[in-house]
Amino acid sequence: MFKYKIDSEVELKMLGMQEAEALFRLTDANRQYLREWMPWIDETKTSEDTRLFIEGTRKRWAKGLGIATGIEYRGELCGVIDLHGLSWTNRKTAVGYWLGASFQGNGIMTRACRAIVDYAVHELKLHRIEICAGIHNVRSRAIPERLGFQLEGIARGAQLLYGRYIDLAVYSVLADEWSESARSR
Ligand SMILES: CC(C)(COP(=O)(O)OP(=O)(O)OC[C@H]1O[C@@H](n2cnc3c(N)ncnc32)[C@H](O)[C@@H]1OP(=O)(O)O)[C@@H](O)C(=O)NCCC(=O)NCCS
Repeated sequence: MFKYKIDSEVELKMLGMQEAEALFRLTDANRQYLREWMPWIDETKTSEDTRLFIEGTRKRWAKGLGIATGIEYRGELCGVIDLHGLSWTNRKTAVGYWLGASFQGNGIMTRACRAIVDYAVHELKLHRIEICAGIHNVRSRAIPERLGFQLEGIARGAQLLYGRYIDLAVYSVLADEWSESARSR
């Protein structure tokens, strides 16, 4: 069971069935806001859908293909961060994330993202970490930019979002760059 206390406010906990109800409630309460950028919202209709999502993340974890953790802020579930698309052949992965709307503006995701990249680089010994965000998703793009990721370019029409293809800004950091930047953090 992965559990990581980042500081006195923010903690990452691997998602399990015990989080299903709270995670569904958080999703349901933020439906309109999350729908702008998250492609899976309309498919998440009941807590059973959230259970199936968690089950999928547990299976991927068991196979060493990624991790999905709930983010707790002052003891309350406020969002999710994950590592997906993990390739052991190329030692790379990608980070995905979302927060409930009212939790924005506290640096929670920047802290969560820093912690999960630390985990990917130092524990999993991965070489490349990627973050992709819709080109107009300013708040999401600010996270890799704040953490010193490099913008590599724009992947055109790379995500289907409710019937339209959107362009994604592709950011990455390599393990040696991350370790180097840690000295100034
Ligand atoms: C993307 C998303 C997680 C960003 O949330 P966020 O709150 O802006 O990001 P953080 O939690 O890192 O907080 C950063 C904000 O807190 C402030 N902040 C406060 N303390 C901070 C700290 N210790 N460290 C960093 N920032 C801090 C920053 O100044 C920034 O505020 P600003 O935008 O007013 O300048 C959120 O908007 C979201 O979930 N959106 C919908 C889903 C989505 O788009 N997911 C990503 C798909 S690619």
